[in-house]
Amino acid sequence: MADDLNKKTAKGQSMWGGRFAAEPGALMQAINVSIGFDQRLAAQDIRGSKAHSDMLAAQGIITAEDRDAIHTGLDEIEAEIAAGTFPFSNDLEDIHLNIEARLKEKIGEAGGRLHTGRSRNDQVATDFRLWVRDHLDQFDVQLTTLMTALLAQAAKNTDTIMPGFTHLQSAQPVTFGHHMLAYLEMFARDRDRMRDCRKRMNESPLGAAALAGTPYPIDRDATATELDFARPMANSLDAVSARDFALEALSAASICATHLSRLSEEIVIWTSAQFQFITLSDAFTTGSSIMPQKRNPDAAELVRAKVGRIAGALISLTIVMKGLPLAYSKDMQEDKEPVFDAFEALDVGLAAMAGMISDMTPNKDRLAAAAGAAFSTATDLADWLVMKLNMPFRDAHHVTGTIVAMAEKQGVTLDELSLADMQSVEPRITDDVYRVLTPLASASSRTSYGGTAPSEVAKQVKRWQGELG
Ligand code: ARG
Repeated sequence: MADDLNKKTAKGQSMWGGRFAAEPGALMQAINVSIGFDQRLAAQDIRGSKAHSDMLAAQGIITAEDRDAIHTGLDEIEAEIAAGTFPFSNDLEDIHLNIEARLKEKIGEAGGRLHTGRSRNDQVATDFRLWVRDHLDQFDVQLTTLMTALLAQAAKNTDTIMPGFTHLQSAQPVTFGHHMLAYLEMFARDRDRMRDCRKRMNESPLGAAALAGTPYPIDRDATATELDFARPMANSLDAVSARDFALEALSAASICATHLSRLSEEIVIWTSAQFQFITLSDAFTTGSSIMPQKRNPDAAELVRAKVGRIAGALISLTIVMKGLPLAYSKDMQEDKEPVFDAFEALDVGLAAMAGMISDMTPNKDRLAAAAGAAFSTATDLADWLVMKLNMPFRDAHHVTGTIVAMAEKQGVTLDELSLADMQSVEPRITDDVYRVLTPLASASSRTSYGGTAPSEVAKQVKRWQGELG
């Protein structure tokens, strides 16, 4: 089989050009090698090996001296990696073999005992789980930072009036604080999803060995505990071949990235000359090399785009995993790069968004003017007709439509239209109606639970301040 493959690749070489060296072995290495990317698992690999060797010694499978030598060697390796002096080698394929070979160079025979009762299959599953878990913890912190930034803007703007939109058409006045809290709620659910994912994934594959377990008297509870897992995974076949933890993390990351993308889009729109709803400082904008007047919201645009690679990673890994039989297949080496790339993108996206939210200044005058435009209080007029004149809502809708048309013709806002004009459409209207026609009155009247009234927004701000501390 291997010979077959080698013959085929050898023949194909001339067509592939000079990319690969002459020997078929070089092709095998080129497709097999993963050290270029899986060296990111070094810290987790060392942590796992320390836990494994502790357990082997505690169970009398290796001596305490060997365990101590292994720990010392691993500490040195960790220091070499941190210093950038570790001799990473493609010949040694991946991070696991690189570290193990270096350990043997350093401590000799004891290094060869580390892999007792373990396989690279449970080793890589453990390392990758630890890496994903570390990043979920990091996202938890980053999401909290972003939520705190949104909350601070909400607290400052509980009564800052702005237009609320449907179909990106002015709909009804809302408060800027309310808009900020809408995103806070979304990111809170993202944080919950990640916490939920972390909880489900927090089981240890270590000790599943190649696929079937091991005859050595290992203690999987001990390694699970040392690595802060809740328990060992209960099925060795599942332990080495499950990657749904990564899929689930990517799916939570993808949903979070869609939220970041939506908020980014609002920032892009809001900073445009046509809207001017907010201002971003130089810290988050760039100039144009040719148009001196420009101030581009590049950071927001890049965050808006990150969802592409993050959701792409989810699709990529889903398709790698589909159709794989139990247990480990080398396909699974393709699990890491999408996750590394996606998580790096989410990391920078969350950080940039938290920065922009803290940085931005709402332009209250522009927001208020826009809130009053486009007859945004027409619903309030209709509601007034229903509540004060007991008119059926459908009739009130019609009367309001006629009054809006009149205002439009005169080029005035609803609260600028004369009472006489309104009475020409519906004689029972009194000047009490002006109480509800300003954007602030409109927003302030929406006191239903979760509504946009400043009083309601202030309550939600208070609730979140209690939760976020
Ligand atoms: N580099 C491999 C991976 O990431 C490690 C596991 C190799 N296992 C094997 N049976 N060849 O999947």
